[in-house]
Parts: sequence; C-alpha cells; structure tokens
Amino acid sequence: MNQDMKKETSAPATRLVQAAIGDDAAHKAVIPPLYLSSTYKMESLEDHPHYSYSRVRNPTRDHLCDALADLEEGYGAAVTSSGMAALALVLQLLKPGDLLIAPYDCYGRAYRLMAALAEKGHFKLEFMDQYASDSAQMIAAKKSRMVLIESPSNPVMRLADIESITRTVKTQNPECIVVCDNTFLSPALQKPLTLGADIAFHSTTKFLNGHSDVVGGAVITKTKELWDELDFWANSFGLIGAPFDSYMTLRGLRTLNIRINKAQDNARAIVEFLRGQDHVEALYYPGIGAMLSFELKGDVKAFTDRLEIFALAQSLGGTESLICHPASMTHVAMGAEAREKAGVKENLLRLSVGIEEAEDLIADLSTAFS
Ligand SMILES: Cc1ncc(COP(=O)(O)O)c(C=O)c1O
Repeated sequence: MNQDMKKETSAPATRLVQAAIGDDAAHKAVIPPLYLSSTYKMESLEDHPHYSYSRVRNPTRDHLCDALADLEEGYGAAVTSSGMAALALVLQLLKPGDLLIAPYDCYGRAYRLMAALAEKGHFKLEFMDQYASDSAQMIAAKKSRMVLIESPSNPVMRLADIESITRTVKTQNPECIVVCDNTFLSPALQKPLTLGADIAFHSTTKFLNGHSDVVGGAVITKTKELWDELDFWANSFGLIGAPFDSYMTLRGLRTLNIRINKAQDNARAIVEFLRGQDHVEALYYPGIGAMLSFELKGDVKAFTDRLEIFALAQSLGGTESLICHPASMTHVAMGAEAREKAGVKENLLRLSVGIEEAEDLIADLSTAFS
C-alpha cells in the first residue's frame, strides 16, 4: 500500500494529522515547506503551470484547503484572511433582489456587515428566529436565495436544527443555498455539510488554528459548482489567506481533536460548578463544545477584574481560557435594540474554555465569585 492510499483509508483524525505530511517532492521534508513566493517561473510561453501567481493559487494555502475540505467532507475549500472575509466571500453568491435569511442573534460584526450591505442594495435581508419548533417552516416559507445559520449562536448558545431547516427549506425551494457558520463547534464536533448544508464557513482564528496567533477564515463547499463560483470571487477580489497564516493554521489544525476534547471536558466541569453558584442568574451551555455564557448576579467589572487565569479578551477557541463581556465587546456593533432582542444582556459573560487543568479554572472563577 503506498503512502497516499494508506492516508485515504485512515480515520478522519489520522488524515488530519497526516495532511500533506511527506508530500515534499523536492527534498522529502516530512513537514510540508512554506511557499512564500508570490510568483512562479514558466518554462516558456506555452507553459501554463498550476501555480503561476499566489493570489490565484499557492501550494501552502492549498495544503490547508485540502485538509479543511477533507475535514468538513466537502468538495473544496477557499481560505481567506479572516472569518469576516469568508462571510464576505459567501455573500458574493447573492445578487440585488435575492433574499438572505440570517439569525437575529448572530456574531455582532456579521450582523453589521450583512445589514450594511443590504442597506446599499446588495441583497434583501431578514433576521429571523432559527431556534423555535416552527422555525424551519417559517424560514422555508420565505423562499429565500440563501439561509445563513450560526449554531450554536454567539453568545447565547442557542442551537438551530441544521438538518431540519435544510430539509424543509430545500423541499420547498431546492435552489436555496444553506450556509452554516461552524466556528463555535468546528468540524470535530459538527459537520454541517453532512447535515444537508451547501456551505460551511469558519473564522479559523478560533478553534481551527486554535492558538490565538493567526486571524483567518475558510469557506468549504459541498459541490464543485459552488466552489468554482467562490474560487472566481476569491481570486477576483483577492479574498485569500496569506501563505504564512495558512502554514500556521495547518500546524494548529493537526491537534484540533485533542484540543477540543480537553476544552470540552473542562467546559463541562465548569458548567457543573456554575450550576451550584448563587451568583449565576442564568447559564447557557449547549451540551457540546467549549463555549458557554452566564448572567452574573453582581458587578461584572469587579468579577472580571478579579480573574487571574481567564483573560478578558475578544476572541475564542485558543488553548488559553478567555472571558468576554459581549454587550461592550463582541456585540457592541449590533446596537442596543438588536442586542436586547438577541438576549445579550448587560450582565452576560461569555467563556471560551481552554485546555488548562479544570481545577485551576474553577478555582479562578470561584475566587472571583467570592
Ligand atoms: C461565530 C463567528 N463568526 C465569524 C467571526 C469573524 O471572524 P474573524 O474575527 O476571524 O474575522 C467571528 C469572530 O469572532 C465569530 O465569533
């Protein structure tokens, strides 16, 4: 059995660790080299090499694209410079007059981008509740061109039934494109394309890179047709990821499964601890993943000031634990009215649980509560 055949028949976690390992034809480097070159030499005018210019295609970015497409069980992937760039790329599939349905409680800056583009006439937009028992029917009845799902939602961790929404929407309107922001769970815990969605996208800044040292994004499509269209727009707008960022992200991606399993175990231990706390007014944990939030009975500033391990910061999904105050940080751009509708209260705190020892994380929270 040759090396490639061995990889193809292995488990997804093995394929992820093995992505592009040993593929270097020039020197047989075990870890694939980083190609920083912006351009590639042609042998003659008749030569049309696969790699010509790095905005169009780059070997290091392609290694990451291949690993992500395999992981999400899609046809292909496009890697972008941020999660917002990934969303901007997906939105290129819409034209003026098309209706986009998005969740009313999505990531604040995604909300702001979609609202601003709709305001300029790029598409029509409606924010809807995607979590009620009749949501799938209500969304399907709109006959939209695209449905964007974010599940669990940021920051109140509501779970949308991706499979039911997709099935119901596509039964009534097969042309509708269902897109899922899979940033919060990652393909280690949820694979939207296997639940019927057409596109999954990520802020790879979060769990996929996993070390809080790269800002990046990715879009993975189920079909070649969608990938071809997105590839055209990625190339035309230059919505691409840098080779170095791609190299770093593939490096982080190899440990996704062990990182997320440990972080999820820690999150579950913290949820148990928070359930017994008098200072916790409401607790939001979807039962899966390493993200949770809670409403604090007490002074939010005093609480966050007292923490020593949980750092007060915007992002999530790194090896280190973070705490965030969505109303004044990640969701400030939504505006007070939309925040209230989405349930982002002033006393809501969001935790991104890392891979430290659970006892230390609980002790840190416990000290802050007291
Ligand atoms: C769920 C979700 N989607 C998209 C984004 C945007 O990603 P980026 O910050 O990499 O542009 C974020 C950022 O926090 C997010 O939390």
